[in-house]
Amino acid sequence: MQNDTEIKELLVRKFKELYGSGDCRIFFAPGRVNLIGEHTDYNGGHVFPCALTIGTYAAVIKRQDRKLRFFSVNFEGKGVIESSIDDLVYSEAAGWTNYPKGVMWAFKEKGMELPSGLDIVYYGNIPNGSGLSSSASIEVLTGFLLKELYGFDVSNIDLALIGQFSENKFNGMNCGIMDQFASAMGKRDHAIFLDTATLEFTYVPIRLEGIKIVIANTNVKHTLTSSKYNDRRRESEAGLAELKKVCGISSYGDMDNAMFSKYGSAIKDEICYRRARHAVSENIRTIDAVKALNANDLATFGKLMNESHVSLDRDYEVTCDELNAMAEAEWQQEGVIGARMTGGGFGGCTVALVKEDKVDDLISAVGRKYFEKTGIKADFYVVSIGDGPYEL
Ligand code: GLA
Repeated sequence: MQNDTEIKELLVRKFKELYGSGDCRIFFAPGRVNLIGEHTDYNGGHVFPCALTIGTYAAVIKRQDRKLRFFSVNFEGKGVIESSIDDLVYSEAAGWTNYPKGVMWAFKEKGMELPSGLDIVYYGNIPNGSGLSSSASIEVLTGFLLKELYGFDVSNIDLALIGQFSENKFNGMNCGIMDQFASAMGKRDHAIFLDTATLEFTYVPIRLEGIKIVIANTNVKHTLTSSKYNDRRRESEAGLAELKKVCGISSYGDMDNAMFSKYGSAIKDEICYRRARHAVSENIRTIDAVKALNANDLATFGKLMNESHVSLDRDYEVTCDELNAMAEAEWQQEGVIGARMTGGGFGGCTVALVKEDKVDDLISAVGRKYFEKTGIKADFYVVSIGDGPYEL
C-alpha cells in the first residue's frame, strides 16, 4: 500500500497534468470498518465502527469562476467531468461526481453557499464496492475540504450529518449515520461506541495485544443493494410502528430482549417481526460486546460477532452465499476470535479478529475454501485503525 507521501506525489503530478498548476492543497478522509452493531444505526441502536488508514484523497484549488472540474484517478476513463456550482442536481450521467456534488448541494441547503468553483482530483485506496464506505469517505472529504478552503463554521459531527443528508436526499440512499460518523470522527487505535439515537459516543481503545483485524473481501456486490437496503429500513419501521402501539418506546434502542419477548408478537407480519428481532438483539449484542471488550473478555466479544452474523443472515437477510461461505470458513479457522459480515451486506466484506501468528494460515486456508465453494478469488487486508479527516 502506498504511503501519504507517494499519494501526494501522484496527486500533484495528475493535478498539474490536467489543470496546468501543481499548486494545490491535499486532504484525506478515511473509510471505516464496523466491528459490531449492523443495521442498527437507523433503528435507534448502537454501533461500534472504526476509521481505517485507507480512504479517499483529494487535491484541490479554488477557481475564480463558478465552474467545477472533477477527475478521479480511480475512474480515469471518465476523464475530467465538468459542472458548475449553479448545477448541483442529481443526474445519472454525472456518475461518481453525484457524491461530491451532493455534499456541495447539502452545504447550500444548510445556508453555506460556495462562493466559487473548484478544480479537484480524487483518488481512493479503498477497494471499490467493498462495503468499507468509500462513498462516506468522499462525502466527509468533500465537506472537510469545503470547510478548510472557504472557512465554513462546521464541526466534524456536522460534516458527518451533512454527508448523510446528501446521501439520503441527493443520492437517494436512506443510510444511517454510522459511516459518515466513523469517517469524520475517527481516532487512531480507537473504535467509536456510538448511540445513534442521541449521537452520544465514547472512544474505546483497541489495543489488541497479538491480535489483528483482518478484512476479507468476497469480491461480489449484488445488484439492487441500495433498494434492498431501503426495503429493510421500511420493514423495520413498519415493525416499530406496531410495537409503539403496545409499549412506550420511541425506537428499537429502547428495548431489551426480554421486552421484545413480551411485546414482539404485536408485529403480525413475519418478515417485519424478524427484522425487529434483529434490530433489538443486535443493539444488545453491541452494548454487551463493548462491555466485554472493556473487561478484556475477547472470547465473549468474538462470540457476539459470530452471533451478529447469524442474526444478519437469518433475521435481517442481508448476507449472501458468498458472505456466509467466508464467515463459515473463518469460524473453522484456528486463532479466529470472531468473524462476521460488515457494512450494509449483500456482498462486500467480512471482518475478523485473528491471532497474529495465525493470520497467514487464515488467509491461505480461507482463501482456498472460499474459492472452492464460490469460484471467486477473495482478497484479504490486515488493517490499522486511523484518524478522521486531515490535510496532508
Ligand atoms: C451501510 C449504511 C450504514 C449502516 C450499514 C449497516 O453501510 O451506510 O448507515 O446502516 O450499512 O449497518
